[in-house]
Amino acid sequence: MTYDKITRRRTIRKYLQKEVPTEVLSKCVDAARLSPSGANRQPLKYIIVNDAELLKKTFSTLSWAGYLPDYQPSKEEMPMAYIVILLDKKIREEPGHDAGIAAMSVSMVAYDEGLGSCILGAVDRDRLREILNVPETLTIVLVVALGYPAENPVIDKVKDENIRYWLDQNGVFHVPKRKLEDVTTWNRYARP
Ligand SMILES: Cc1cc2nc3c(=O)[nH]c(=O)nc-3n(C[C@H](O)[C@H](O)[C@H](O)COP(=O)(O)O)c2cc1C
Repeated sequence: MTYDKITRRRTIRKYLQKEVPTEVLSKCVDAARLSPSGANRQPLKYIIVNDAELLKKTFSTLSWAGYLPDYQPSKEEMPMAYIVILLDKKIREEPGHDAGIAAMSVSMVAYDEGLGSCILGAVDRDRLREILNVPETLTIVLVVALGYPAENPVIDKVKDENIRYWLDQNGVFHVPKRKLEDVTTWNRYARP
């Protein structure tokens, strides 16, 4: 069920060094292509990166797990593919919400296929533009890293407003989430 998948999916930042089939990567982009788009303008373009050299170069432009700067994939845990989400400025000046929705579509189809993913906004866009030959008419909005998971993060409760993810003694990655009742009101806004 969709609910189970959405709630079980966690961001994965460590990956098995196992190739991702090209059909699976195309399927992820196809799902993004068919996702909701403001005014149906469809301003997004996608670059699928799976070439060994470009994977390394793309990795060097990304920042992982801001709250745990040492927590990033080692050489044996690198992403095996990236889907770079671009805005075609000739179609629309701003991405609106389309890019986030597209990134989630990629992540969920990837999850269906047994893949882990990490949506990355912390990207050295100037360097990535050069590496991937992206013309100035396109903006790099988000990067989605992909690969078969080599970690199993868990959700946790937010305590004392602390939303920072953390590692326990066994190296398990905990992701604090706010409670349903803390983020929902019915009919009118009501302060807790
Ligand atoms: C728009 C967006 C940008 C993100 N950028 C980064 C990033 O640059 N680096 C990173 O390691 N994680 C990034 N993340 C992943 C978040 O840290 C992660 O979704 C959050 O900690 C919640 O964990 P969960 O996805 O497992 O529920 C990003 C997520 C979103 C939605």
